[in-house]
Amino acid sequence: MTLPVAVLVSGSGSNLQAILDRIEAGRIDARITAVLSNRADAQGLVRAAAHGIPALALPHGDYPDRTAYDAALLAAVRQSGAEAVVLAGFMRILGPDFVAAYRDRILNIHPALLPSFPGVRGPADAAAYGVAIAGATVHFVDEKMDNGPIVIQAAVPARPDDDAAALAARILAFEHRIYPQALAWLASGRLTLDGRKTRLAPAAIPPADMADAGPCLVNPPLEQGF
Ligand code: GAR
Repeated sequence: MTLPVAVLVSGSGSNLQAILDRIEAGRIDARITAVLSNRADAQGLVRAAAHGIPALALPHGDYPDRTAYDAALLAAVRQSGAEAVVLAGFMRILGPDFVAAYRDRILNIHPALLPSFPGVRGPADAAAYGVAIAGATVHFVDEKMDNGPIVIQAAVPARPDDDAAALAARILAFEHRIYPQALAWLASGRLTLDGRKTRLAPAAIPPADMADAGPCLVNPPLEQGF
């Protein structure tokens, strides 16, 4: 059954776009019920509207406190009919009531190899630290920031001359592959949680050929079409 999903964004929404493109290509058995943003000027809202998806700004400044904002966000997500939630560059922490309402059904993408470099400056912190390998992580969301069980990670080289923008761009290219893949797995019911471990049920299709991707490591391996 097609999974109804709400997507939360704060900015450009390029990950939302990657997901939309893979849904429209028939690679993900999901339907986006609404795109919600805490910022009225988020480009992600424009992308959603261009695809005929309900797009709603809920500016957090309009609410007296975090609890009130969380309740409004949860109400909007529920009203859309979503059974799962995708955080695609959503720069707010979800409160415990929201997480409890959609437990094990919220995904987030973070532009670092968690548990390294959590927070809002992942690529900048990694570049400043001088790491040789950077990457991105898709994980389930729990009450703590950038903490829940990991679904998939992609590792890419980091170079001494990389500034934050260069490293972020190299990571983002892989975000656009691993996030649709992770959602496809969730939508097809292939992910189960075992404590901190995420188990992926095997598929009949062989992994994608990564020969064109340059140096990288993606695990679990991407499947064809991602
Ligand atoms: C992405 O790089 C995402 O991983 C990051 O924000 C960017 C959003 O880009 N998220 C975080 O840093 C969360 N801590 P997008 O709006 O173009 O998808």
